[in-house]
Amino acid sequence: MAIRKIGVLGTGQMGGGICQVAAAAGYEVLMADINIDIAKKGLDAIKKRLDGAVAKGKMDAGARDATLAKLVPVESMAAFKDVDLAVEAATENMALKLDLFKKMDAACPDTAILATNTSSISITYIAAATKRPEKVVGMHFMNPVPVMKLVEIIRGLATDDATYEATIEAARKMGKTCVTAKDAPGFIVNRILLPLINEAVFTLQEGLGTPEDIDEAIKLGLNHPMGPLALADLIGLDTCLAIAEVLHTKLGEDKYRPCPLLRKYVDAGWLGKKTGRGFYKY
Ligand code: CAA
Repeated sequence: MAIRKIGVLGTGQMGGGICQVAAAAGYEVLMADINIDIAKKGLDAIKKRLDGAVAKGKMDAGARDATLAKLVPVESMAAFKDVDLAVEAATENMALKLDLFKKMDAACPDTAILATNTSSISITYIAAATKRPEKVVGMHFMNPVPVMKLVEIIRGLATDDATYEATIEAARKMGKTCVTAKDAPGFIVNRILLPLINEAVFTLQEGLGTPEDIDEAIKLGLNHPMGPLALADLIGLDTCLAIAEVLHTKLGEDKYRPCPLLRKYVDAGWLGKKTGRGFYKY
């Protein structure tokens, strides 16, 4: 099926990035969030990023304007009446996602593909909340979406070939490279990344080094672009904890237990960059 119009549910860090790359690829994009004011804020953030790219000479003003012209904030997902693909990028919470998928299933045309940007939750489980499990797929973008080249594509038990192929085609059109991961907790990227981040928090808890030392060690010692604690702050410590909990609960092994210090930071509301404080202050 040809995808022309995309509805994105959630216009924050991840959803906003998805809107941006979809619009830059020429798709018409409806931006929905809790209300239209939040969706408009998402659009403002994209404008700011594109203006920055134009100012740096990385993008011409025509391309910026063409991208912005494709982005339409809407009141709610009730506006997704004629989308070909809906991408959910809401908070990493199972009950919330199930509820949103039921609503998205009702709002979107029967022909639409329903994708989730979940970082860890079972696609098969989310799909079962809809009347079209064969059209539900995982489309896991990385943060920051406009910069990172990867999209993990995950098939649920019922996902059909047409859905899988059309989703890969859309991700490629957005300039991304796809890998296919099995529907297992954390898929590939977060199955590997979260134990790294969690272990970094254990090293901090045990006083092996300061946050700066731990991050510098991994940056310079392993050639990572940023250290695991700074990366956790970028992802959001609440999201990291939510993924760690899914790995721990669903895989059932102690090695995935979330570090108590990570929990403590989340309890304190120190969620990383987005709240101005995490392992670092912003
Ligand atoms: N949105 C859009 N663009 C951004 C951005 C953002 N939030 N942050 C940085 N950029 C762009 C900058 O504009 C800049 O673009 P140009 O080169 O065109 O000017 C470019 O990225 C580099 O930025 P900076 O020079 O400011 O900083 P940097 O060189 O230190 O790079 C970084 C920043 C891209 C974040 C880099 O440190 C990096 O790649 N870090 C690792 C990120 C990573 O591992 N992401 C995956 C997280 S896991 C995940 O997302 C899965 C999950 O479910 C949790």
